[in-house]
Amino acid sequence: MNFELNQDHKVLQDSVRDFVNKEIKPLAVKIDEDHAIPDELVAKMSEMGFLGSYFPEEYGGAGLDMLSYAIVVEEVSKACGSSGVLISAHTSLCSNPIYVFGTEEQRNEWLPDLNSGKKIGCFMLTEPNAGSDAGGTTTMYKREGDEFVINGSKTFITNGGYLGTAIVIASFDRSLKHKGISAFIVDLSSPGVTILKNENKMGIRGSYTTAFAFDNLRIPVGNLLGQEGKGFNIAMDTLNGGRIGIASQALGIAEGAFERALAYSKERKQFDQPICEFQGIQFKLADMWTRIETSKLLTYRAAWLKDNKKNYTMDSAMCKLHASETATYVTKEAMQIHGGYGYIADYEVERMYRDAKITEIYEGTNEIQRVVISKLLLS
Ligand code: CAA
Repeated sequence: MNFELNQDHKVLQDSVRDFVNKEIKPLAVKIDEDHAIPDELVAKMSEMGFLGSYFPEEYGGAGLDMLSYAIVVEEVSKACGSSGVLISAHTSLCSNPIYVFGTEEQRNEWLPDLNSGKKIGCFMLTEPNAGSDAGGTTTMYKREGDEFVINGSKTFITNGGYLGTAIVIASFDRSLKHKGISAFIVDLSSPGVTILKNENKMGIRGSYTTAFAFDNLRIPVGNLLGQEGKGFNIAMDTLNGGRIGIASQALGIAEGAFERALAYSKERKQFDQPICEFQGIQFKLADMWTRIETSKLLTYRAAWLKDNKKNYTMDSAMCKLHASETATYVTKEAMQIHGGYGYIADYEVERMYRDAKITEIYEGTNEIQRVVISKLLLS
């Protein structure tokens, strides 16, 4: 057993850190205030290979592995949770299912633009009345000649506002429940796609969260991903990987807040001594760090399992569950250590607290992660 990153992963970590400190950290406050990640930053992250980290070079990817991807999302999220989820939703939820379930033709058609950041990817599973019950989708499709016609609505779509490439989940027969569901690759600039709204959120405000309507959206039959009737299984498999991305984002947010809290506790003096001299603060730091380290172990192990083609369903649920609860805990404690200053925007930990909360909710609420874990324990 080896708990050390190898040399390649260390080099990658250093180079991502340098980039983040130079290009992302100085923009994080503005991204939150403007509710937008500047296009130039998305372009720079694409140039760095962040949007296609673990896909083979033949499809325009960086040819790295899942652990590298986790490191990228973690390091980016230390400075900016919005940028972290842009990468995670794009990679895990859009490019990954095309890579895993797509034909060679589909991989060649869609992956180069996604890996280069020319198109930003998203995953359209959730609907106003189908959230945790993902099999309850009411977006319907039917075949007409050489096309599928899709009607319905989708909501809470991370990256949706870019109108790039989407994996759309729809049913052809609701009575078949999840066996009536299929997955499609959709170019969101197609006629029949309407943005209903971009949500105004508590956190990850630089990230688009978009509601859509599909009104006779027509796509070629060649855009069916995998087999008809297997779309729910594709969605579940996709989310298993996605949860490693969200765990990495949560881990990064927690680490970013911890770094600030540790530094502040050494600088801030009360009663003639730095506040880190008080055991009340020391115990907080110890608990925060312990949870961060356990989150990292779980997240990196889930990535390692995926890299080594072992089953990682339970591990991805566990790392997402633990890292997200760590992120909300650590950011809350980081604000407490900052006292009144933690509550004002300048110190950034209040933004991290707001950014952390969603990690307990999206890509399966933590209640759903507990369902996944306990089902496997009892099976
Ligand atoms: N991995 C692989 N396969 C799975 C699976 C998993 N984690 N969970 C279920 N399946 C498979 C089952 O094996 C079964 O397959 P077969 O029919 O081939 O036997 C099939 O799926 C149906 O399984 P269930 O009967 O258990 O399904 P269910 O309807 O009871 O639902 C659930 C199970 C775990 C609750 C599932 O609905 C679920 O994960 N819900 C949460 C959805 C979710 O995470 N949504 C987030 C959307 S993405 C997002 O957040 C937006 C964004 O842009 C970031």
